[in-house]
Amino acid sequence: MKSDHPIGIFDSGVGGTSIWKELHALMPWENTIYLADSRNAPYGNKSREEIISLSKKNTEFLIKAGAKIIVVACNTATTNAITELRNSYNIPFIGIEPAIKPAALQSKTKNIGILATKGTLSSDLFHKTSESLTNHVQITEVIGEGLVPLIEEGLVNSKEINVLLKKYMQTMMDANIDYLVLGCSHYPYLITFLKDLLPNHVTIIDSGEAVAKQTKAVLEQHQLLSTQKAPPLLQFYNNASIGPLKLLLKDYDDVIKVDYKEF
Ligand code: DGL
Repeated sequence: MKSDHPIGIFDSGVGGTSIWKELHALMPWENTIYLADSRNAPYGNKSREEIISLSKKNTEFLIKAGAKIIVVACNTATTNAITELRNSYNIPFIGIEPAIKPAALQSKTKNIGILATKGTLSSDLFHKTSESLTNHVQITEVIGEGLVPLIEEGLVNSKEINVLLKKYMQTMMDANIDYLVLGCSHYPYLITFLKDLLPNHVTIIDSGEAVAKQTKAVLEQHQLLSTQKAPPLLQFYNNASIGPLKLLLKDYDDVIKVDYKEF
């Protein structure tokens, strides 16, 4: 594997671009290929078997495209499929999991909240982590039902989203949380609205920056960090429509390539 090969990234849709932004900020010289499987979004209500099969399909596309490492920029796919992926393919995988551990360690009210998909909250991997923390904190789990489809439609700043967030954040405030963990890579796009709905003492955390740091460390370990001097090739593929992807990446318009592709 050569160091100038791309970092492969996939998500059920456009949300994982929040992780891509962290990766690109930390390693601006790296080539990247991002797959948005929007045709099959949301993954959050699918069975574990379906999530594994879609994750394998995305992985095989990225391996064929020459990826040197794969970042699973989706909590639902990570918590349901990463063990299976690691057992099936000979390539390093980086996953993303809800950061409930750091939240639990820092919470003063001993109440933390997690907003994630049904698939993530019902996974064995998530249960294992949350069970190990229940002696320290009370964890309020809320399924972000309906949020991913709206973000996929490009309706981030919409009345529909606001109505849902108001309801979900009321549950969190009733539980007296002081940390809100975002357990879905689509949700960082909602941070501004969440801040408006929550009291100032509530800290919102997501795992994007940690994932980027971990990816860099693993590339370093395998001596796969890019040494190229030319501007990187930053490719994005969507198998539904490219509009919402372009909207979320509008600040990068002149340096990225966004295309429709069947996969
Ligand atoms: N971005 C995915 C995650 O982090 C989306 C979930 C979905 O497709 O339901 O969980």
